[in-house]
Amino acid sequence: MKISVIGCGYVGLVSGFCFADSGHKVTCIDNNDQKIGLLKDNKVPIYEPGLTELLLKNVENSNLSFELNITENIKDSEIVLIAVGTPTGENGDANLTFVHQCAKEIAEFISPNTQIIIKSTVPVGTCDAVEDIIKENCVHSEFSVISNPEFLREGNAINDFINPDRIVIGADEQTDKKIMINLYKDITTEDKILFTSRRSSELIKYASNSMLAMRIIFINEIADLCEKIGADVTDIAKGIGLDKRIGPHFLEPGPGFGGSCFPKDARALIESGKKYDAPQTLLESVILGNENRKKNISKKILDKLDKQSENQIGILGVTFKAETDDMRESPSLIIIPDLQENGMNISVYDPEGEKEASKILKDVNWKKTAYEAAENVDCLVILTDWEEFKNLDLDKLKNSMKRPLIYDFRNIFDPDMMTELGFEYFSIGRG
Ligand code: NAD
Ligand code: UGA
Repeated sequence: MKISVIGCGYVGLVSGFCFADSGHKVTCIDNNDQKIGLLKDNKVPIYEPGLTELLLKNVENSNLSFELNITENIKDSEIVLIAVGTPTGENGDANLTFVHQCAKEIAEFISPNTQIIIKSTVPVGTCDAVEDIIKENCVHSEFSVISNPEFLREGNAINDFINPDRIVIGADEQTDKKIMINLYKDITTEDKILFTSRRSSELIKYASNSMLAMRIIFINEIADLCEKIGADVTDIAKGIGLDKRIGPHFLEPGPGFGGSCFPKDARALIESGKKYDAPQTLLESVILGNENRKKNISKKILDKLDKQSENQIGILGVTFKAETDDMRESPSLIIIPDLQENGMNISVYDPEGEKEASKILKDVNWKKTAYEAAENVDCLVILTDWEEFKNLDLDKLKNSMKRPLIYDFRNIFDPDMMTELGFEYFSIGRG
């Protein structure tokens, strides 16, 4: 099939490259000329493992190409997939400017019988609105709008895309369903596809992300309690996760959830609840609890330090989680400025985050290795759990620190082992 993917971000590139790799002819389109310039030079503008290999392979076999802006380049496409951003708007709801703009732009060029797939995460009713916008701006009315939300995680995106737990498709027409089965036929089996209405499909995406966010804030608050009463959150997570009705995933405590989706999607669902008079009070607490958690991290660190003297703090990992360069709503954006306001000097190492983070984080000393970031520090703070951090030479690390104090907000080391090695080691929820 011929597919145009609009938006060359995390979702657009992964979807486009994976569809190309499964044999479709894909054109990835973006209105950011820098991104398209890089892609045409065979360079991937984001960090996501495996994307460069897929790009090279599928450009070489002519399944993949790139275009700047939506033009008549989409007229041959049977499918136009919209994967543009839907950031938080002024009131907390989703800002649909990019989606609506795309709808307007594609309306001018689509041929009859084009399927428009909304992959972006959008509130209930957006597919209806996109349909109306296209109708108003298109010379024909033979097109359909299908909801097909994406569930990939950054850092594991290709694997998630080609091995999905489920594919949710909101489509009303039988012919649309057949086309969607055909689109995914070399990626997954039909039994993985859940067909539903467009409105339910749109809501499934928000409800999924909100449910996961809720689990994280729950385990974070349980971790706080563990610290006060001398229990171990790792055992608690294991103990509750072994119940098949609960399951083990998304029960790892951390510095608070971030990223481009959990916070924004939970906020958007709260706003939908307000709009339709169906209050989402649980999610309101989730957002509040998460914001408080991020603010409290610096207090925990400062508590361990002598506030009278000038302290040097080393930070390992600033992106919102490991295996990504994405800084959107990262806990570090709250934690580092808080520490700086309290007079701390900050050195930072992140395996992939420096380029994006240095645009936002001011007055930090960027280091090229974890050992350099640990040099002469009064405290080393771990904010993400890259494999690289788990495999550090801990003696070497300790020898470069002024004071061997580690605050580990991802629980990557064993507390007994760290004490034996001579560290003052603090982690979360482990007594
Ligand atoms: P992103 O911000 O990384 O990329 C969006 C791209 O769209 C940008 O490159 C931008 O230049 C481009 N764009 C915007 N308007 C355009 C237009 N009119 N024409 C051409 N290009 C245009 O976004 P993302 O992280 O890939 O997320 C996209 C959507 O997918 C969001 O709704 C998000 O909630 C959802 N989602 C994201 C993830 C994730 O892990 N990032 C996972 C699942 C779903
Ligand atoms: C999340 C969802 O997992 C994807 O299914 C979804 O498609 C995506 O959002 C989206 O809609 O954008 P992502 O944001 O890439 O994916 O990252 P996650 O791995 O889910 O982590 C989100 C945040 O929760 C991170 O800050 C992470 O550190 C934190 N987290 C995750 C925890 O603190 N504990 C956990 O057990 C899991």
